[in-house]
Amino acid sequence: MLGAMTLPVHPTQTRLMRRRTPPTLPITPRSIALFRLGEACNNHCPMCSNSGRPEAWLTPEAELLQRVDWLAGQGMKRVVVTGGEPTSHPAFWQVIQRLGERGLVWDVNSNGRTFAQVGFADRAVDEGLQRAIISLHSHVPEVSQEISGVTAKGHREILCGIDALVAAGVPVMLNLVLTKLNHADLLGYLAWTTARWGHEIELKICFPTTVGRGGGWDGIDLRYSDVAAEVVAFVTACDAINLTWHLESFPPCAIADPRARNMSRSGFGETHYLDDLTGDRLYPIAHIEAELGCFAETCRSCPAFATCPGVSEAYARRFGTAELVPFR
Ligand SMILES: C[S@@+](CC[C@H](N)C(=O)[O-])C[C@H]1O[C@@H](n2cnc3c(N)ncnc32)[C@H](O)[C@@H]1O
Ligand code: SF4
Repeated sequence: MLGAMTLPVHPTQTRLMRRRTPPTLPITPRSIALFRLGEACNNHCPMCSNSGRPEAWLTPEAELLQRVDWLAGQGMKRVVVTGGEPTSHPAFWQVIQRLGERGLVWDVNSNGRTFAQVGFADRAVDEGLQRAIISLHSHVPEVSQEISGVTAKGHREILCGIDALVAAGVPVMLNLVLTKLNHADLLGYLAWTTARWGHEIELKICFPTTVGRGGGWDGIDLRYSDVAAEVVAFVTACDAINLTWHLESFPPCAIADPRARNMSRSGFGETHYLDDLTGDRLYPIAHIEAELGCFAETCRSCPAFATCPGVSEAYARRFGTAELVPFR
């Protein structure tokens, strides 16, 4: 049941509410679990949303294999493999092989660099890869390098990794996290990426979360109103060329577009999150997102409320909720 509860507030603050969703969700043949291999990574993105907990750094191989068996035993048929950077985990292929042995297919959320290695993308396809979300935060090398914490070589690897995935026939969605460095040139990004990879790729623009270890980076100190005009121009330009776009963590009213449906956290319709520390608990993604998002009281009357992600509590406490204006 969808419901709402009011959050306690300081008398001078805006009254907030949170959506209530069930804490459990049955597994069906259509379920998809977010499966993290650990937070270790070969990039150094300053805004990284990872938790930074030392115990989450690199899950050992034996534990990961056991988790695959456990997921299969629960009836899970598909996972999104992520991290950290999943492809840099030393047991990456062993985990992938075990997924295949247990009858699971997989998608990947990756920074893309490892796919630049000769044969890596083809092998991934042979071993069950269905789709890829690759983080490319800018087409401008210097900007990409700063946002992804990589050298010029690292940026080239991201591009070549995407080339290899596209050449291997993998449906690719590019993910751009909005920062102060890249939000002004979304149209340039659209033009550049479609010139290189055609109109088959999909593009996702993500409003940054400040919850992770990179939350204090000044580059993501943004408000919705700082980026709304550019995001509207971007989706309009995508529509004009029939390119599929997605938004993540955008209340539709923040860009005055009721079609701006929120994607789940990594964007492939994951239904469940496998606890990355215990490995033996599955939480509904919708429940996690409901716990993280909050709303203004006036949102109750909005026709988009049922699917809106709201804003983070930290955001609402800092900036208030004046940007949340219900559709009529
Ligand atoms: C933590 S990363 C792990 C996967 C992979 N290493 C990558 O970067 O694509 C998961 C997703 O979070 C995105 N991300 C990183 N920092 C973020 C932030 N502050 N807010 C929102 N998304 C963020 C990445 O672009 C990626 O799509
Ligand atoms: S966002 Fe992804 S690529 Fe960047 S540091 Fe975090 S885990 Fe690595």
